[in-house]
Amino acid sequence: MNRRKIRDGVQWLGAVDWERRLFDSLIPLPDGTSYNAYLLEGTEKVALLDTVDPPKAATLLSQLADVPRIDYIVSHHAEQDHSGSIGMVLEKYPDAKVVVTPRGKDMLIDALAIREEAFLTVGDGEQLSLGGKTLTFIHTPWVHWPETMVTYLEEERILFSCDFFGSHIAASDLYVTDECRVEEAAKRYFAEIMAPFRPQIEKNLEKLKGYDIQMIAPSHGQIYERPAFIVDLYKEWVSAPPKNLVVIPYVSMHGSTETMVKHLAAALEERGVRVELFDLAVTDIGKLAMVLLDACTVVVGSCTVLAGPHPLAAYATLLANALKPKARFLSIVGSYGWGGRMVETLSGMIPNLKVEVLDPVICKGFPRETDLKALEDLAAAISQKHAQEQLA
Ligand code: FEO
Repeated sequence: MNRRKIRDGVQWLGAVDWERRLFDSLIPLPDGTSYNAYLLEGTEKVALLDTVDPPKAATLLSQLADVPRIDYIVSHHAEQDHSGSIGMVLEKYPDAKVVVTPRGKDMLIDALAIREEAFLTVGDGEQLSLGGKTLTFIHTPWVHWPETMVTYLEEERILFSCDFFGSHIAASDLYVTDECRVEEAAKRYFAEIMAPFRPQIEKNLEKLKGYDIQMIAPSHGQIYERPAFIVDLYKEWVSAPPKNLVVIPYVSMHGSTETMVKHLAAALEERGVRVELFDLAVTDIGKLAMVLLDACTVVVGSCTVLAGPHPLAAYATLLANALKPKARFLSIVGSYGWGGRMVETLSGMIPNLKVEVLDPVICKGFPRETDLKALEDLAAAISQKHAQEQLA
C-alpha cells in the first residue's frame, strides 16, 4: 500500500500484514494485522511516528523513497513491531533524532543497540513544533509496556496512540467502517495484551480527558474518526464488573473430564448462569482471553497426566494468572487414574488472582453419581455466589 493522506501534511504509511497468524509466538491473529506509521510534515521539520515490524521494513522504506528529510522519528513504544525498523530508517536519515520517553531510550538501546547520541528524550506533556504542527507527548505507561507514550497533534486534534486503542486487523480501508468487527478485534487485542494493566489504563484514560480528540490513529488496525466509540469500550473493559458468566477451559483425554464439565455446564445453565466452554486441545486462546475479561468464575477442567495437570490445563491456568481477569471465584474439576497432585499444582499457579477458591470436584476414573452430585453442588454454590454479587 502506498502512503495515504489523512490531512494536509499528515499521511499514513506502514504495512498491512494480511498473512500473519501469530504474534509474539503466542497470540493468534485470525484477521492479520497492520503496523501503522505516520508522516507529519511541518513548515520547518518532518517527523515520522513509529516504524514497522522489521520483515516489512522494505515496504516502509519504499514509501519513504521520495521523502528527502526526516528530522524526528517518534518512537511511542519499544516493542519491535513498531521500533524494529528504526535502525534502517536512521541509516537513510542519519541526522534524525529518535524521540522517546527516558525509559523508552533505555529499552531501545537494550533491544536494538541504537547509538545513544541519536536520542531526544521528552518529558510528559513536553511539546515539539514542526512549524504549524505542534506535537504534545503524553506519557501513558503500560499501554502496553512501561515506557509507552502517545502523541497529540494540536492543530488537527489527532491522537497517535500506538498500541493504545489498537486492533489486529488487516484491511484496505484506512478508517473504521464496520464498528462491530472492530469491537470484536479490539476487545480480543485488549484482552490479550492490555487486560493485566487495567488500573494503569484507567489512569491513562483519565489523563486523555484533558485533550480535545477528534481522531485516534493507532499503530495497529484502522483509524477512528469517532474516538468515543473506542474510548467508551475501553472504559467498559477497564471498569465494568464481571458478568453472570462462568468460563470453563478444559482438556480431556478419555472423556471423564469432558463428561464432568458438560454436566457442570448444564447444571449452571439450569440455574440461570451463562457458561462458555473451551476445549483446550483445539481452542483459540484469544477467544478464551476475551471471555476471561467478562467471567465472574473460572473453572479449570483437567485430566491427570503423569501425576500432574494436563500441560494444556497448566498453560491455560498460567495464562489466566498472567492476564489477571476480574473473576472473583475459581474452582477445578477433573479426574485421575490412580493418583496425583493435579489440584495442588494448578492451585499453586494462580498467585495473581484475587479469587475465592470453591471446593474442587475430582473423581477417580469416570464420574459416578456422587461425582455428578458434587458438580451440581458446585453449580449451586457458584450460582449463589453470583447472586450475592448481583451480576448483570
Ligand atoms: Fe504493537 Fe506492544 O506492540
